[in-house]
Amino acid sequence: MSQRRFLVTSGLPYSNGRLHVGHIAGAYLPADTYVRYLRARGEDVRFICGSDDNGVAALISARKEGTTVEELTARYNARQAADFKGLGISFDIYGGTHQPGFAELHTRLSQEFFRRIHEKGYFTKKTTQQLFDVQANQFLPDRYVKGKCYLCGYEEAYGDQCENCGQSLDAAKLIDPVSTITGSRPELRETTHWYLQLNQFEEQLRAWLESKRQASPGNPAWRETVLNFSLGQIRQGLPERAMTRDLDWGIPVPLDDPDAAGKVLYVWFDAPIGYVSFTARLCQDRDGDAELYTRWWKDPDCKIVHFIGEDNTVFHTLIWPAMLMAEGTYQLPWQVVANAFLNIKFPGQEEQKISKSRGTAIWIEEYLQTFEPDPLRYYLTAVAPENQRTTFDIDDFINRNNGELVAALGNFIYGRTVKFAHQYFEGRVPPVGKRTEGDHEFLARIGEFRDRIAAEIEAFRFKNAIGVLMEFARAANGYYDSRQPWKSRKTDMADCGTAINVSLQIVRAMTTLMAPFLPFSALKCLDMLRLDESALQWDRATEQLPEGHALGEPVILFKKLDAAELFGTGE
Ligand code: MF3
Ligand code: ZN
Repeated sequence: MSQRRFLVTSGLPYSNGRLHVGHIAGAYLPADTYVRYLRARGEDVRFICGSDDNGVAALISARKEGTTVEELTARYNARQAADFKGLGISFDIYGGTHQPGFAELHTRLSQEFFRRIHEKGYFTKKTTQQLFDVQANQFLPDRYVKGKCYLCGYEEAYGDQCENCGQSLDAAKLIDPVSTITGSRPELRETTHWYLQLNQFEEQLRAWLESKRQASPGNPAWRETVLNFSLGQIRQGLPERAMTRDLDWGIPVPLDDPDAAGKVLYVWFDAPIGYVSFTARLCQDRDGDAELYTRWWKDPDCKIVHFIGEDNTVFHTLIWPAMLMAEGTYQLPWQVVANAFLNIKFPGQEEQKISKSRGTAIWIEEYLQTFEPDPLRYYLTAVAPENQRTTFDIDDFINRNNGELVAALGNFIYGRTVKFAHQYFEGRVPPVGKRTEGDHEFLARIGEFRDRIAAEIEAFRFKNAIGVLMEFARAANGYYDSRQPWKSRKTDMADCGTAINVSLQIVRAMTTLMAPFLPFSALKCLDMLRLDESALQWDRATEQLPEGHALGEPVILFKKLDAAELFGTGE
């Protein structure tokens, strides 16, 4: 297969708080696994992320923390970048839509984008009544107002989106709106904004989304949940949506029009353009020319993949694609992978939603102060909320760490194989000797495990993929049990060596196959096998270590965990 080209993005986190396990399971870890796999296959891939700094979310948090929005977003941008790094999320660039070094390019590209859509006539300029907080003396866009969703009845909907039904909203229609700044009841005042005529794109969006139902070779189908929600929205009709706001934080509306004065772009207009502007910045850094972003965004040979949390679906499957259609020179996303939310269950408590205010979250920063990243990566993939909500159950996390990572995968590699080779074969790969039929059979199966994992990852089924990895580990232990090298060591050293040789070939393959999921452990395995990182190339998984090859020191890969030392409370 010739080299493929992918531009992979993870939803830009708001830079107004810390990251917890739910964020990671949703938009970041599956993307990282996918990207690491693609890199191992030798594909041309760029992995883009950064913070979503504009809009009301950061303004509210800055007010709450008594700081400026610039300081707040810079601080959380750095905090989140450190958390991602600690978990091995391997972005090629981590930007920020209002961060120094990124804001200039981001502003230019966002304004160009807006102006082009304006020139093509897809905005309607309208003066309407909008919610206004008299006490605060300002309009109340987006998260500045809460009220009852007029579509599903949820009590806590924001002005621009309901987090319960996921639909995009018109703030002026909220039932019983309340200002989140002062708690007062807003009144209506006239203001002028630019509305994107989404209805003009209904047919084109419908046809495009329908085309994603059927998989074809090299093109996996989209998840049903994503398609059903999005097509359902089109069936109801797509109302026009304001793409500008009355705020003093964000990207100025780039029109020579007195009505545009003091207004900024809607945060959901500029944020996805962050994917583009960060790509441009990466091209500038790597290739010396920001304009090369077009090679990723405007060339149909490149596949654009967006990983997001489910609440972002409407923006990535309808509004952003409509923006792209309106602008006209970009290509559409090839795949939008949305994950559901993750609930949490602490020992002895009921399952509940992750909540910052109630303190029911596991924060990445705190987790990493005590624990290794790979067990968390393992568990979050094993319970990935791919098609519905799932639960981070602390007891289950411990059990699976101890039963699967420690007892099956880790013990096979460390205790049963590498340490054994050090004890009885002077730390070298023993001679092949006379392989049994079972040896040959097992070696032949390795390629099948590799290909099954690849097929699951290519189809965005990461939970299945890690299930196959674990199946491989269990099968390896079954093979080892059947060969009983701990017995043959005393009776038939040559046969024992043959079995350990095969076991080392299995460890060799496991190293490559675990790397997209458990990158830190894979590096430890490389050291134990004295191989360099090129051994992680996917097709080399089945290469065999030569007889006599010297091994590195055995190191324990996974440790048993205990619920008590873990998370006593949520905070
Ligand atoms: N900041 C948004 C959230 O956390 C996601 C923005 S994704 C992007 O829900 F496409 F706009 F970048
Ligand atoms: Zn709703």
